[in-house]
Amino acid sequence: MNKSAQIFINPSILNANFDDLENEISKVAAVSDFLHLDIMDNKFVPNFTFAFERAVEIIKISKLPVDAHLMIENPDSIAPRYAHAGCASVTFHYEAAKSVGQTINDIRSNGAKVGIAIKPGTDFSKVEDFIADIDMLVVMTVEPGFGGQAFMSQQMPKVRQAREWINSLNGAKPILQVDGGISEITIEEAAESGANCFVAGSAVYKSNNPVATIEKLRELAKARFF
Ligand code: DX5
Ligand code: ZN
Repeated sequence: MNKSAQIFINPSILNANFDDLENEISKVAAVSDFLHLDIMDNKFVPNFTFAFERAVEIIKISKLPVDAHLMIENPDSIAPRYAHAGCASVTFHYEAAKSVGQTINDIRSNGAKVGIAIKPGTDFSKVEDFIADIDMLVVMTVEPGFGGQAFMSQQMPKVRQAREWINSLNGAKPILQVDGGISEITIEEAAESGANCFVAGSAVYKSNNPVATIEKLRELAKARFF
């Protein structure tokens, strides 16, 4: 069926050592696809990670292309700044955006790929009309805000629905990312459901061997994704 579709493993540095990020990113660079950079503003979610200036420093030191995940209020004006700062892709939350179509255009015109993320309580039907215009859909498999939470299997029907929609598109097919609780235990279920891009935070950075963990995650996902 779709065996050749690419699998992406994107480590999240949310649970890495924030004081030594250059080294933390270097550790996983050779075996990862993108660096997943979680931006939280303590408004859209009850947690704060990096100010814009600090994020720009991380984007500059990262040896991996950056997949920014903006968990912020009012992303419409800020998301394009992340694109301009050199992120490979910028994902904003559907629930937070005032003008989804305009924000898609503004990210793209600033040179980045475009992602839309939906929280566990948001139905796929809300975003289906945008799918053909974006590069990535992110189905959250935890409530956004914190690393280390349990994977929500109950989101898998949404992942299946999104995969069916994506596969029915004629043109380029956006990546289907799952974010939250991905581990060697949960990745197979997510891949079987149709995800081809996997964010892994604590599974990677709490592992004694992050490189081997990423390699294992990739192998498990490849074997289950069709
Ligand atoms: C959650 C973040 C996730 C998180 C994933 O709000 O968007 O990217 O870092 O971490 P784990 O893999 O530990 O759930
Ligand atoms: Zn994230």
